Amino acid sequence: MGLKALAVLTGGGDAPGMNACVRAVVRSALANGVRALGVERAYEGMAKGEFCELGARDVGGIIQRGGTILKTARFPGFAKIEAQKEGLAKLKAAGAEALVAIGGDGTMRGALALHKLGFPVIGIPASIDNDVYGTDISIGVDTALNTIIEAIDKLRDTASSHQRAFLVETMGRNCGHLALMSGIISGAEMTLIPEQDVEPGEVAKAVREAYARGKTHAIVVVSEGAKYPAIALKEKLNAMNLGVDLRVTVLGHTQRGGAPSAWDRLIAARFGVNAVERLLAGKSGVMVGLRAREVADVPLEEAGSRQREPDMEYYRMARMLAQ
Ligand code: F6P
Repeated sequence: MGLKALAVLTGGGDAPGMNACVRAVVRSALANGVRALGVERAYEGMAKGEFCELGARDVGGIIQRGGTILKTARFPGFAKIEAQKEGLAKLKAAGAEALVAIGGDGTMRGALALHKLGFPVIGIPASIDNDVYGTDISIGVDTALNTIIEAIDKLRDTASSHQRAFLVETMGRNCGHLALMSGIISGAEMTLIPEQDVEPGEVAKAVREAYARGKTHAIVVVSEGAKYPAIALKEKLNAMNLGVDLRVTVLGHTQRGGAPSAWDRLIAARFGVNAVERLLAGKSGVMVGLRAREVADVPLEEAGSRQREPDMEYYRMARMLAQ
């Protein structure tokens, strides 16, 4: 018997492109004669039976919208087997025979749990942090990077006019990948990440040297998980009589919003179609990921249990280019 109905959810922090991916999942399901159900508020909504029917028109006009029409929730309680069984019972009672779970590593762990209970599940990586193991990039990263560089470009204008230095804090939780990429593409003087402990004295030195080389401003990108987040770092630097007017901008949740970029819409479509086709082919327990431009299968076991390490070659490059 072929698949009659599948469900789709978005979990963890929202990421631009989630909606485009929901649309791709729903429309490729319908194109294959499979009914699509939305699970609202991720695993928490699943455990409470919050489902909705998704037709082709229900996912119309969302390809360009940030956030997620399905809403999302962080639900640590889903680590408990009772919650998993409850959610699964509700999902089956709603008629779903398979699930596509879109989100970060926590969402992949939930997906793995359901797979282990014998339910067909495919994961899709979506998180601005780019910390999901097994994929070169997750949905949302590209849009977040574009938001970050737009903000830093604007900060540079005012920084340069006042000859100020800016500490710009980016998200990324305990992974420095987003900050590292931001540092390179925005031309920052320095990038501070959780994976590399840098003391305030070193930052002060880099900033002073930048001005000594004739720069009219300095931009230091600080990952929120770095040893000293931006506000704490500012206090330390001011206590060192840096001799430069210092300002802090915490970009915060602006990085999570906004219309998805062309790239995010494209990988959302590719991941969505590939996830549904894998379910139709009888696969389960894998996340679709991008590896060297190809969509590849990553065991959920791996995707949910490890964190993708930032590419330290980026760190080396960023330092070299900040002359
Ligand atoms: O995982 C995405 C992310 O935006 C992280 O970069 C950040 O640390 C976290 O979510 C913030 O979570 P919340 O929106 O729940 O405060």
